[in-house]
Amino acid sequence: MRSLLSCLAILTSFALAFPSRRESPHQVKERVFSPRDWEIHSVAPSTHRIELKIGLPQPNFDILEKHLYEHLSKAEVEALVAPHPESLELVNDWLASHGFGEEDIVRSPAQDWATIVVPVRLAEKMLDTEYHVWTHATSGESIVRTTSYSLPIHLHDHIEVVQPTTIFARLKSFKSTIHSLDKQTGQIVAQTNTPVVSASGISVDPSCNTTITVTCLKELYNASSVVPSATINNSFAVTGYLEQFANFQDLQSFYALEVPEAVNTSFNVVSVVKTTSLLAEAGDEADLDTQFGFGLTFPINGTFFTTAGSPPFIPDIGTPTDTNEPYITWLDFILAQDDIPLVISTSYGDDEQTVPESYAKRACAGFAQLGARGVSLTSSSGDGGVGDGDSDPTTQTCFTNDGTNRTEFLSAFPTACPFITSVGGTTNVPEVAVFFSGGGFSNYFARPSYQDAAVKAFLEKLPKGTYKGLFNPNGRAFPDVSAQANNFLVVISGEQELIGGTSASSPTFAAFVALLNDARLKAGLPSLGFLNPLLYSTAVSGFNDITEGNNPGCGTEGFNATVGWDPVTGLGTPDFGKLAEIVTSPSRA
Ligand SMILES: *[C@@H]1O[C@H](CO)[C@@H](O)[C@H](O)[C@H]1NC(C)=O
Ligand SMILES: *[C@@H]1O[C@H](CO)[C@@H](O)[C@H](O)[C@H]1NC(C)=O
Ligand SMILES: *[C@@H]1O[C@H](CO)[C@@H](O)[C@H](O)[C@H]1NC(C)=O
Ligand SMILES: *[C@@H]1O[C@H](CO)[C@@H](O)[C@H](O)[C@H]1NC(C)=O
Ligand SMILES: *[C@@H]1O[C@H](CO)[C@@H](O)[C@H](O)[C@H]1NC(C)=O
Ligand SMILES: *[C@@H]1O[C@H](CO)[C@@H](O)[C@H](O)[C@H]1NC(C)=O
Ligand SMILES: *[C@@H]1O[C@H](CO)[C@@H](O)[C@H](O)[C@H]1NC(C)=O
Repeated sequence: MRSLLSCLAILTSFALAFPSRRESPHQVKERVFSPRDWEIHSVAPSTHRIELKIGLPQPNFDILEKHLYEHLSKAEVEALVAPHPESLELVNDWLASHGFGEEDIVRSPAQDWATIVVPVRLAEKMLDTEYHVWTHATSGESIVRTTSYSLPIHLHDHIEVVQPTTIFARLKSFKSTIHSLDKQTGQIVAQTNTPVVSASGISVDPSCNTTITVTCLKELYNASSVVPSATINNSFAVTGYLEQFANFQDLQSFYALEVPEAVNTSFNVVSVVKTTSLLAEAGDEADLDTQFGFGLTFPINGTFFTTAGSPPFIPDIGTPTDTNEPYITWLDFILAQDDIPLVISTSYGDDEQTVPESYAKRACAGFAQLGARGVSLTSSSGDGGVGDGDSDPTTQTCFTNDGTNRTEFLSAFPTACPFITSVGGTTNVPEVAVFFSGGGFSNYFARPSYQDAAVKAFLEKLPKGTYKGLFNPNGRAFPDVSAQANNFLVVISGEQELIGGTSASSPTFAAFVALLNDARLKAGLPSLGFLNPLLYSTAVSGFNDITEGNNPGCGTEGFNATVGWDPVTGLGTPDFGKLAEIVTSPSRA
């Protein structure tokens, strides 16, 4: 690391193009097309306050990328994403010229983000733009946004992104189905009495074919005998957004039902943005994530990060701050911590095209920083197959938002960020792909080298011309892996329910990663950190390849699950026993 930091000093000393210190004329920095489903409601009130986040370039990010396995310290990561001093100075001058002193600016630890709170009238002047109140056609939700903003020319190389400006994303939770259990028996009846056999040849209880419990998952993924340690500083976390709260009482009922040894234990709640109440009515997503995530990893220290969405902006009532773009908010918070849970699962996402590319890339670079600090991140691949899951063709959103209005498969964010492990879905025993498993190819991120061979092998098998023009064959392909995604037996508001979605797959896969870290830490090895290069190389033999099923969407049958990697189930589902051997073998030290 010492040599790394000294080479940094050399890199950061090169001269940038000579900047003009005077206020240069504005030039458009980013422009997006009018977003589908959003309509202009009115001119934004000039006193409405916006929390503006300004992202400065990270000139040494490529060095960070090369050190993704090294478990860098917080300070080392910050040194690698710090902006050039000249960028800082020019941005400071610009902010000062609009009346912002250092005391008005909130900076990320690496100083790569500066946040200011500004009234609309000043933001419009600074960005030479006009904000409007936009209303979403179906939900009625309102936000204050613009479709284009400008910056003084001399700042174009020193500011990468300013948001919220052009971001029209609508975060969704990837839980697709909820069924109530038979109220009379409280049970779903098994279809057979003989044990069902998993893809890897393990016998599991027949009920697992229709009702997934913690025990089923441990059996299915060859981890029945694992006893995790509570005392080796292992940790696991799930994130919650959209006012979703986890309910402690539901967790106790769930434990009584599925993890009796965990009864009376709980988890830590960390509020990223102030929340009103943690014991508010249970959210089904949060209950699912916490119950299965913490149930599978008990007694590993569990944390629930809650990033409360700011209340929807109500144009006719008040002028609260609205952000609606939680990724950078969450990243800002988590990257500032000294101790970060070693595995973090997220079951939320947006259609990739609704997140501006510049913003998606910066958030993705933030996820890379977590990887460099030894943290593994997983994310649900989505519940719409290759589309958005809407069977009504009039509301399907398989159309490009780039002005050409072409039909195209939908990629999702953040799951398509190459520094995240994307988790698709399976169902039944033996496992097959679940039809809603999100999968496909990013339009923003190029295919990373770690998946080059696996994805090429898939594309070569695809008959020539299949879905030509509907997807970007050179894009980052997802999911990377998969796990069960259907019929999870949870307790919501005191009731037993069956719930599904790749929302269930992500905490499930993440939980097995936490169990792998248990094996690593016990062997005196560091946590796994960024997973993907390992998964596509030495760990391939630790997966149950899923070869049946497909993920329809956008009026097509979608892709097929195949032998080897595929954009439905990725490399397959985990075989913990085999993976534990691989990740603790001397060559992985
Ligand atoms: C599991 O469920 C699937 C779907 O309902 C069914 O086709 C299959 O026969 C079941 N397997 C067993 C072993 O009962
Ligand atoms: C766990 O972390 C604490 C605080 O960093 C440290 O004092 C302790 O030695 C660690 N325990 C183990 C088993 O590594
Ligand atoms: C859980 O706590 C309650 C209340 O303190 C107690 O009555 C019960 O016996 C405990 N259960 C277990 C399994 O520890
Ligand atoms: C568990 O995690 C929380 C929050 O991340 C932390 O504050 C606490 O110290 C951890 N507890 C143990 C025993 O490591
Ligand atoms: C895009 O095309 C679809 C299908 O032809 C049509 O329903 C929709 O109105 C078009 N949207 C725009 C913005 O042109
Ligand atoms: C999926 O498999 C079916 C059955 O083998 C085949 O007819 C179909 O063309 C395949 N689809 C794709 C996209 O590969
Ligand atoms: C389960 O894991 C063990 C290693 O712990 C391995 O030897 C065995 O082959 C695995 N079983 C199956 C069916 O994959």
